[in-house]
Order: sequence, then C-alpha cells, then structure tokens
Amino acid sequence: MPSNAPIGVFDSGLGGLSVLQAVRALLPHESLLYVADSHFAPYGERPDAFIEQRSLAIGRWLRERGAKALVVACNTATAHGVAALRADADWPVVGVEPGIKPAAAASASGVIGVLATAATLRSARFADLLARHTAQGQRFLCQPGHGLVERIEAGDVDSTAVVTLLEQFIEPMLAQGADTLVLGCTHYPFLIPAIERRFGNALTLIDTGAAIARQLQRRLATAALQAPVAPDSADGGSIALFTTADAHALQTMADRLLPNAPRVQTVEIDSIDKTAPQGASRLDSAPNLPIISA
Ligand code: DGL
Repeated sequence: MPSNAPIGVFDSGLGGLSVLQAVRALLPHESLLYVADSHFAPYGERPDAFIEQRSLAIGRWLRERGAKALVVACNTATAHGVAALRADADWPVVGVEPGIKPAAAASASGVIGVLATAATLRSARFADLLARHTAQGQRFLCQPGHGLVERIEAGDVDSTAVVTLLEQFIEPMLAQGADTLVLGCTHYPFLIPAIERRFGNALTLIDTGAAIARQLQRRLATAALQAPVAPDSADGGSIALFTTADAHALQTMADRLLPNAPRVQTVEIDSIDKTAPQGASRLDSAPNLPIISA
C-alpha cells in the first residue's frame, strides 16, 4: 500500500467527525475517506452481531477504495467490531474506547460518570477496560445515553430536548459526587457547549479524539505509512465524505467543522451477511435508566 494512500475513518454517523477533526489537526498531510453509516444509526441500540457485520462491510469498502489504514471512530463499533476487523485484513486498525484511564487519573472525588451507548456499556471490552483501570476506592457511574445520538444525527446539539436528556443523565451523577464525565461516544463531543452551559465547570469532560489521532500517528510511523510531506508544502491531504443516508446532516456538520468541506456523497454499502438480525432502531428519546455502578 503506498504511503500517500488515504486513511479510512468511519462511524455509525456524523459523530466520527469529532475524531476526523482531531486527525486533521495532527496529520494535515494525510488524505482521509470518511464514511457515516447513518442509514443504520444509532448502532448503540442494535444487536452486537449486526454492529460487527456493518463494521466489516465498511472496513472492506474503504479497503477497496485504497485506504492504507483504518480508524474506527466509533466506540460502539470498536467494542463489537474491532477484533473482526483486525482479523479480516492486514492493515493498521485504530479503535476508540471510552477514556476510563484518563478519567481515573483526572478525578479528585473518585466518582466518575460514563456516558456511552448501551451497546458499548454491555460489551466485554468495556468490562475489561473498567477492570483494568478502576483504582481502589474509585466508582464509575455508567449511563446509556439513550436518545442523544438520534438528536445529534438530526443536527440538534442544544435544544431544550437535548438539555432535558442531559439533565436526566448527569444530575444523578453529580448527586453521587461525580467530578469527571467520560464522553464515551464520538457523537457526544458535539454536546460539550450544551453541557458546559448547563453544568458550568462542575465536571471535567474526557474526550479521546486527540489521543486517537496520536495513536494513529504512532501506528502509521511503525508501519512506515506516513504520507510524504514536501518541505515547503502548505497543502493538506484531500478529504472525501460519504454517508449511507441523506447527505444533509453530515454536510451541515462538516461545513461547520472543516474549512472547505467537500460535498458529501451518498453511497450504498451492502452488509456482508444480510441475514444478520438488524434489531430495532430506537427513535424515541428514552426515559432515564437507573445508573449502573461498576
Ligand atoms: N458514535 C458512536 C460511538 O462512539 C455510536 C453512536 C451510535 O450509533 O449509537 O459509540
């Protein structure tokens, strides 16, 4: 694979743009192919096997378009698909996981909230992550963010409905002494302004976008796949944006985040196993669920 080939990045929807932005900031000379699988979002309410199937299908699609490495810019797809993706092809595959380790280091009270999808929170990878990083006396309050991804996919990051959901999820954490909140879904960094407006600086917010970009940089260096940079070149790599749904929401968010964002193209990416049960996608904004302590 030539080192000037693009890097594939995907998410269930537009959340992975928060990771793409961090990659762009650190590695401006890399070309990027981004896929939002918005037709099937939210992944967080779907069966584990279905999430794995979509991850494999999108990984192969990006590989066929010449990607030299893959960033799974989705905690949910990483939880259920990264192992299969690594087994499927020999290329650097970088996943994202909730920032449990930095949160454990940042918290003074020892009580840490984790907001992530239901599918991430029920995964074996997440249980293992918690087991590895929970120090003596620390408590993680894990809360599925039901309803948030649907709002963000619709371009809504600050309505009253969004703030009401945030209050339902975050107030019980504060009541139990949380001083740190892990944003365990790549859609959630788009809610940072709303969280800060509503809760001030009561919580240290943990987002792993920049750490993922650094991990990608290390993996490219190890594999000798870094894009060549002409010494006096100010040109960035190219960006192409694809979605499996209507282009409007991704276009709006991309225009907000990326200078000179390209036109989003709608594509069809067939599932590899079309018989895998898809599960229902929840379109309602669900009520507050009990907080599960780790
Ligand atoms: N952005 C995703 C994540 O990081 C998935 C959200 C979803 O589709 O439920 O988990």
